[in-house]
Amino acid sequence: MADLSIEVNGIRFPNPFVIGSGPPSTNSKTIIKAFNNGWGGVSAKTVSLTETPVINVAPRYGKLKTPSGEIIGFENIELISDRTLEVWLDEFKAIKDAHPDKVLISSIMEKYNKDSWQELVGRIVETGVDMFELNFSCPHGHPEEGMGAAMGQNPDMVKEVTGWIAEVTDLPIWAKMTPDILDITEPAQAAMDGGASGVAAINTIPSILNIDLETLAPMPTVEGHSTPGGYSYYAVKPIALRMVSQIGRGVPDAEISGIGGVISSREAIEFILMGSSTVQVCTGVMLQGYEMVEEMCEGLSNFMEKHGFKTVREFVGHSLQYLTTHHDLADKRLAKKANALGANRDNNWTGDIKKETDELVSK
Ligand SMILES: Cc1cc2nc3c(=O)[nH]c(=O)nc-3n(C[C@H](O)[C@H](O)[C@H](O)COP(=O)(O)O)c2cc1C
Repeated sequence: MADLSIEVNGIRFPNPFVIGSGPPSTNSKTIIKAFNNGWGGVSAKTVSLTETPVINVAPRYGKLKTPSGEIIGFENIELISDRTLEVWLDEFKAIKDAHPDKVLISSIMEKYNKDSWQELVGRIVETGVDMFELNFSCPHGHPEEGMGAAMGQNPDMVKEVTGWIAEVTDLPIWAKMTPDILDITEPAQAAMDGGASGVAAINTIPSILNIDLETLAPMPTVEGHSTPGGYSYYAVKPIALRMVSQIGRGVPDAEISGIGGVISSREAIEFILMGSSTVQVCTGVMLQGYEMVEEMCEGLSNFMEKHGFKTVREFVGHSLQYLTTHHDLADKRLAKKANALGANRDNNWTGDIKKETDELVSK
């Protein structure tokens, strides 16, 4: 087995695989189970100060299936943790006692109030967690209160709030980004300017997953009504990879924790190649179980041996060099080659559409 460990912001991860904040990290039992199964780190379910009310609904999940029944997407309207901070403080201590060598990340969210954020951080620091992830990205419920994605869409606020946290702790800070923004490098850079050591990207994408064709109500339906939720799982991977690549190229000082649609070692490796030094998984674990990390470690090790990489760090961002503009791709020399393959032939399409499409699909 290759050496899968990696040092990120001065912290050693036994492997780059981290449970993303959500149901697989919802309490100490689930987090300890994740560590026992071999995950290198866990971002715990987002916590907040106790006085912020968290009222969840049921049902709160939905699955997007292909006509043949394969699940490709997932939606949730779940809020942050509905458990009190006091309970979490005890559990953070117990988790670190049980697994001192694993990386425990506390994901936090608060309203736009310096005292609240700083009190939250001050109380959690004492438990021995290894780092913080600032949830600037929850897409439903909390943005109505000015929290989560509502902050993440405002780079000035991202910089200011990150600065409040950096004032009261020396632990590394990752800012978790919303994909619901035109240019993700703006909040990512703002977080770095405020004192973050990295960014986690992406959170879920605002979506309406399905409409019930009997009741005609969007799903998940609660008392006859619904609300757009957060889209995740395999189908979001291309969007997440693109956004991670933008941060990788545009904000090179940021350590990136890549998230979105990882179901196996293959996608995890793709995130590393696009600039992520750690990779998070949330929905994949909900649908496949914690054991999926075994294949991820094995697949990563095989990939490294095949390509002669001795450390994970050696190939973080390796494939960014192959990204360029379309203008550049269409450059005369490249275009000449493409024309020889028949790429430039809009006049020639006859309507044998499936065959003509297939001829232009990358092999
Ligand atoms: C049911 C559910 C609950 C989630 N809760 C949180 C949360 O509390 N805090 C957070 O930062 N992200 C939360 N997320 C987002 C995930 O951590 C992750 O960013 C997103 O789902 C994309 O990754 P995935 O495709 O591996 O799930 C949640 C996701 C799901 C599916």
